Amino acid sequence: MDSKEIRKKYLEFYREKGHAVIPSSSLIPEKDSTLLFVNSGMFPLVPYLMGETHPEGKRLCNAQKCFRTDDIEEVGDMRHTTFFEMLGNWSLGDYFKKEQLNWIFQFLTEKVGLSPERLYVTVYRGNPEIGVEKDSESVEIWKGIFGKEGIEAKDVDFAERNGMQEGRIFYYPDGENWWSRTGSPDKMPIGEIGGPDSEVFYDMGEDLRRHENSPWKDSPCHINCDCGRFIEIANSVFIEFVKKEDGFHKLPQKNVDFGGGLERLAMIAQGKESVFECDLFLPIIRKIEQISSYKYRQKIRSFEVIADHVKAATFIIGDEKGVLPSNKGQGYFVRRLIRRAARHGKQLEIAGGSWLSKVAKEVVEIYGEAYPEIKKNSSFVCESIEKEETLFYKTLEKGLKEFEKLKKEKVITGQAAAFLYQTYGFPIELTEELADERGQAVDKKAFYREMEKHKDLSRELSAGVFKSGLADKEEKTVKFHTATHLLLAALRQVLGESVIQKGSNITSERLRFDFSYDRKLTKEEIEEVEKMVNKAIKKDMKVEKKEMPLKEAMDSGVLASFEEKYPSRVLVYSITDRKGNVFSNEICSGPHVGKTSELGAFKITKEEASSSGVRRIKAVLN
Ligand code: SER
Repeated sequence: MDSKEIRKKYLEFYREKGHAVIPSSSLIPEKDSTLLFVNSGMFPLVPYLMGETHPEGKRLCNAQKCFRTDDIEEVGDMRHTTFFEMLGNWSLGDYFKKEQLNWIFQFLTEKVGLSPERLYVTVYRGNPEIGVEKDSESVEIWKGIFGKEGIEAKDVDFAERNGMQEGRIFYYPDGENWWSRTGSPDKMPIGEIGGPDSEVFYDMGEDLRRHENSPWKDSPCHINCDCGRFIEIANSVFIEFVKKEDGFHKLPQKNVDFGGGLERLAMIAQGKESVFECDLFLPIIRKIEQISSYKYRQKIRSFEVIADHVKAATFIIGDEKGVLPSNKGQGYFVRRLIRRAARHGKQLEIAGGSWLSKVAKEVVEIYGEAYPEIKKNSSFVCESIEKEETLFYKTLEKGLKEFEKLKKEKVITGQAAAFLYQTYGFPIELTEELADERGQAVDKKAFYREMEKHKDLSRELSAGVFKSGLADKEEKTVKFHTATHLLLAALRQVLGESVIQKGSNITSERLRFDFSYDRKLTKEEIEEVEKMVNKAIKKDMKVEKKEMPLKEAMDSGVLASFEEKYPSRVLVYSITDRKGNVFSNEICSGPHVGKTSELGAFKITKEEASSSGVRRIKAVLN
């Protein structure tokens, strides 16, 4: 069964069950600033999962392009990719666990033809600390489903320590069986939604065990073991909760958010051991074999990095809202993808000039029909990749020579890593990978500190050089920046903590701020927000920055809007009154004013809809 057929069967199956098929959204989020890329099918549906009415109804399904930055390190194990296609279906406060688990089992066994014997499932263990119980409801449903197949499904806990224990249903904690866009409950920012999930795993058979490479190599194999025997193919999330400052609250409706990776299903349906051998990758792998002197199985990691990264870069550049390689935000990821792929080409001894665009052309061949945008933009994609690749080769050799000089060091210092980045364009993971190959470590924290210093330095320089015009402008934008923090804090006090930042834009004339809220603000609410900000300004609150580990900041509930691109240490800006009451606490790279009295009078000039579920405020300082 080829991947086209699986995609079609899935959408047909759910269409027959009353679901509207909706298009894949762009990989670049719609004015949503929680993450840099769309990492799941539910991403564009968040407002509807929170209660807003979707024009297509309460049952939806699609195939969605997704990009996961977290998985970048995992590429190379035959099943992880950064870009993937997710088959998804949703119930927006309509059906729930019983229908979903029965249907997905039916789809996998009857439509894809997987043997029920090979399927194992996981459920949420529960966590009293956040007041969410163990998911016994799903356990009972699964028992019924397997029972009908003549399989007695035993449920067992603590699988990771004791192996399979003849179980079929396994309980797992927050880290595995809770899903939100930002991960487990502790990693969710205030306002984020999520819930327990129930996953289906496919048993590839014990003969495939590469157990000695597993983190559990000294314990018996279990389904989350990572040795390659079990592979997750389906995830039903029961999105019922929203995180608020005082803990988890039930959403007004019970939702289902299902997602399953198409590449993994295709791999199994096609009897392959690696996703890179399914039909969504094989032509790419063959192309790389053609232009290099190696076979895939001889250099698995380099082949997978190249195939995955070029595919991802093709989709991001060729997206409806295409992003080019650059030094910041999404563009920085595109740069890293291309450069890392190019460097792995050296491992495969691919000689001559640029070649990555040949691989990109294969990607367009495979996906041009399902995702016409990449076909339409194909020459632009190839040219952009080639340009970035050429730019990188210009400095790569020199950079590698420089890197050679560090051979004797145990640890590559932050300063050295920053130098490689600034002078030779070495993204940090390239340095890490090179270091790793030689058994060296890289002081990544120091690298980020170093980068932060340079940012400050260039800021000071530009302020100093352009004393009049530019410096003056810069000063104004800094004030607006601080006012934006006050505005968000005031909005959350007046409208509630479901308000989260959806984007902001500052010029020297005004600030513009987008946030989640489902209706127009009343005149009274606008006045109250204004008053609250002005009061904070009058109180002459202190604006202070503190550097801390990202985890500590997230755990203490500091507001974050760009979680994904944060380094492991971050700056947190807090705005506090004289008595020490915290008015605002946000992760932010600054800069900000030192005291709120510098801001002047705050006035909201406009409040309007920005997109569905998102409001936009414009404001000035006089
Ligand atoms: N959002 C869930 C996931 O990405 C299910 O779609 O796994």
